[in-house]
This record gives sequence, C-alpha cells and structure tokens, in this order.
Amino acid sequence: MVSVRDVSKTFTSRKKKVKALEKVSFEAKPGEIFGLLGPNGAGKTTALRIVSTLLKPDEGEVKVNGFSTLKQPQEVRKTIGFLTSDMRLSGNLSAKDLIFFFADLSRVPRDVTQKRMKELADYLDMNDFLERSVDKLSTGMKQKAAIAVSLIHDPDVIVFDEPTNGLDIITSKTVTDFLRDFRERGKTVIISTHVMSVAEKLCDRVAIILEGRIVENDKLKDMYARYSTDNLEDVFFTVAEKEGVLEDA
Ligand SMILES: Nc1ncnc2c1ncn2[C@@H]1O[C@H](COP(=O)(O)OP(=O)(O)O)[C@@H](O)[C@H]1O
Ligand SMILES: [Mg+2]
Repeated sequence: MVSVRDVSKTFTSRKKKVKALEKVSFEAKPGEIFGLLGPNGAGKTTALRIVSTLLKPDEGEVKVNGFSTLKQPQEVRKTIGFLTSDMRLSGNLSAKDLIFFFADLSRVPRDVTQKRMKELADYLDMNDFLERSVDKLSTGMKQKAAIAVSLIHDPDVIVFDEPTNGLDIITSKTVTDFLRDFRERGKTVIISTHVMSVAEKLCDRVAIILEGRIVENDKLKDMYARYSTDNLEDVFFTVAEKEGVLEDA
C-alpha cells in the first residue's frame, strides 16, 4: 500500500523555478497496478522518485506500507523496488555479481539470494548471460539484469518509471507479464507512462497528471463509464482540453 498526500515539489535552479508537483495525492493498493499517466515533463518521475525516497518532497507525506518516507526511509527502501527504463548497468561485473552485491546490501541470506536469482533468471530468460559482464550485454539484456538486481530483495511494492520505454517488443512483453504476475501475488505496483496503450492494457487504476497536478484519478472502467467512452485517449484529451493544457503543447 502506498499513500501520497498533498505532495509538492519545486526545483530551483539559478535561472528559474519549476513547480514539478503541486499538492499531489493518490493511493496504490495491494493486488492493483496503479498508473500515473501524463505527457513528458508532467512530474511523473519526480513523484515516483519521492515515493522511493530518492527525493524529498517540499511539503506533504508519503507512506509505504505504513512507513513514512521522511521518518523511516530505511524501512521504505526494504519494502520497495524502484525500476526505471533508463537504468544503465555498466562495468566488468556480471549480472550475477551485481545481484549478490545488492542482495548483500539488503542483508538477504545467500541461499535465499541463490533461489530468488534462479527464479528471476528463469522468468526473465537470463540464464544464458547471467555470468557475462554487463558491458557486453544488449540493451534488453541490461534491462533484464537491472530488473533482477532491483527485485532481489523481494519487495512488496514495485515502482516502475516508464516500464516499456526503449524495450524491444519481446522484452516489453516479458516486463508487462512480470508486472501482472506481481499483481496476482498481491503486491502493490505503481507505474508511470506517457503511452496511453500501456496504461490501458496494464492498469487497474489511472491518475492523469498534467503540469504537476493530478486532474483525474479513478478505476479505468469507472473512468470510461463517466466519460462514456471505451478508451483512455478520449478521457485524456477531454481532461487536457478542460484544463487548458493543449494550447501551449
Ligand atoms: N533535478 C531537477 N532539476 C530541475 N528541474 C527538474 C529536475 N527534475 C525534474 N525537473 C523538472 O520538473 C518537471 C517534471 O519533470 P519529471 O518529473 O521528470 O516529468 P516526467 O517524468 O513526467 O516527464 C519538468 O519541468 C522537469 O524539467
Ligand atoms: Mg519521466
């Protein structure tokens, strides 16, 4: 369970201030895939980084399985797996080395790591390259290795920023199947995407984020009923027009 309450974040650089998030609230529940849908620059990555303790909010509160990201960040990190499609593993170490390295950091016993690594490698079809140095892997292989590394502590909550970005069609299918599998196992899954079809196919509940504000948030099927449609594109453009964000696009 993840609850985000009234989270705001402003980035200040020498030149200007960017209000990346303004009073953002949402909840993601176990056994559900929750999606943050919005165009580039809407604030999705910022929101997910705050949920994962990588960034602190200016205001508001985030709780992950009851733990506060500000007061109990260590507990939150044990509970969460944060993945992004532009994770770039590099260097001479192999996926296996990296998996054991990160599992040790999370104090996962070695025999448990071994067992989980086998499950992940079977599931993600990684057995052929588990011991090859990550520098020599293809993009898709690197992505799979990064997923295995991020999930070796068997988190209850999976946060995946733009899950299928830049992936070939087969790896992309593996990743979406994988996320559905997590849902079946009662885990809480949060994704962000700017691709309507990804949100449509994968999510039980979708929040639309525009210019740092959540402007719609509902179960997909209830959203379709309210907008008398059968697709997210209609919902998105109706909302975007109402919010007046299409003119400056
Ligand atoms: N570290 C940062 N420093 C300054 N501005 C940032 C930083 N990270 C994000 N931003 C700005 O915040 C806004 C939201 O960015 P982001 O959360 O990455 O959006 P999204 O993931 O939806 O594309 C953008 O205007 C972006 O330029
Ligand atoms: Mg982003």
